[in-house]
Amino acid sequence: MIVRGDIIFTKEATKFTIFEDSYLLIDEAGKIEGIVQEIETGREYTDHRGKLIIPSFVDLHLHANQFVNCGLGNDEELLGWLEKYTFKEEVKFKDLDYAREIYKLVLNRLWEAGSLRSVIYASLYTKTTSLLFDLALESGLSSYIGKVNMDRNVPEYYSETTEESLAGTREIIERYGQISHLIKPIITPRFVPHCTSESMAGQGKLSIEYNVPVQSHINESKKEIEWVKSLHPEALNYSSVYDEYDLFGEKAPALMAHCLHNTKEEIELMKKRQVYPVHCPESNANLSSGIMAVKKMLEEGLPVSLGSDISGGHHLYLPYQMVLAIQLSKMKGRLEDDMSHVIGLPEAIYMATKSGGSFFGKTGSLETGYSADFLVINTDSLMNIKEERSIKEKLEKFIYIGSAANIEARYLEGKLLEKPFKE
Ligand code: GUN
Ligand code: FE
Repeated sequence: MIVRGDIIFTKEATKFTIFEDSYLLIDEAGKIEGIVQEIETGREYTDHRGKLIIPSFVDLHLHANQFVNCGLGNDEELLGWLEKYTFKEEVKFKDLDYAREIYKLVLNRLWEAGSLRSVIYASLYTKTTSLLFDLALESGLSSYIGKVNMDRNVPEYYSETTEESLAGTREIIERYGQISHLIKPIITPRFVPHCTSESMAGQGKLSIEYNVPVQSHINESKKEIEWVKSLHPEALNYSSVYDEYDLFGEKAPALMAHCLHNTKEEIELMKKRQVYPVHCPESNANLSSGIMAVKKMLEEGLPVSLGSDISGGHHLYLPYQMVLAIQLSKMKGRLEDDMSHVIGLPEAIYMATKSGGSFFGKTGSLETGYSADFLVINTDSLMNIKEERSIKEKLEKFIYIGSAANIEARYLEGKLLEKPFKE
């Protein structure tokens, strides 16, 4: 397959690679063969001249069971927010009919937003988590999906035993571990305060036994960190609790949402283990959690990525997170009188594509050998007058003032993806 258009992506975090009016060559397996300026006359191609061809987005952290709460409950910090709003919504997913309705919407919205790959917190309930796997398999999207584990310090109406956590996680891995290269399980301890040591040890063992990656939250709010200290006084820091139980990237890849208040030692350990810090700017602002030191972490060589973290964040559409990531980095720079914190559009796109995409293998870029995951963007409606804009400026406008309506086509592994479910 061959696609013609203005091709732009981030091979590196700090700059764009641009091919004006070029041809993207895609092989039978859905991988990129290369980009060329000309092809032999007579060869067929899909014509997107004047439109942008960019890598599709990768959302490395979201809670499917919180989708309905987007826009609500923004008057609390993390721990109060969980108790007052979040668990009360998540518990509704015991009802499979309710879950089906919401999950279809979430998958449709991910498709719409161009987030063709994602890493999702599903449900505490194993049956409900299975349902999300089945729907995700039907959708054509690519996701890691985790059954949420929480067996301590949770309200009685929304809890499970350690045995249920571990049996449910194993059941999901056994059932879905090998059936698709697009949809895969991920081990999901909600966060340290909600998992007993026995549960974390068991989850770490499962991760090694089945070679399944891990996702969790870390260093999001100061009160949370104090809580972890009181639960694990022997631990050097928050990261070392996960690490003690093989949940921190040593044996299997790990991604950790937030990473706002990391110590130097924790950054060193993350580097050593190549843990993915997932930046969730909107959630961090809503829950007044803090501002991530994105630029520093990128410069440390960490695979910093982006997450919508709905409903901590209130938009699934990742360009909102990109813009806010840039804005917050400027605020951090100004507040700390250190403008080296500032990131620009290339870093934001890089986090949302190549960096996050690397969690899935060679995805998230339009370099040779990468999976042909891309979006076709029509920016005509964003040009107020007959503006002559460069490719970079068109992308800038799309990210800042565009919407899902500007995405004309979505391709995953070289195949056109249609909207998954009827609404
Ligand atoms: N920490 C533990 N659970 C959650 C959650 O659902 N959202 C966020 N943002 N942080 C958490
Ligand atoms: Fe989260």
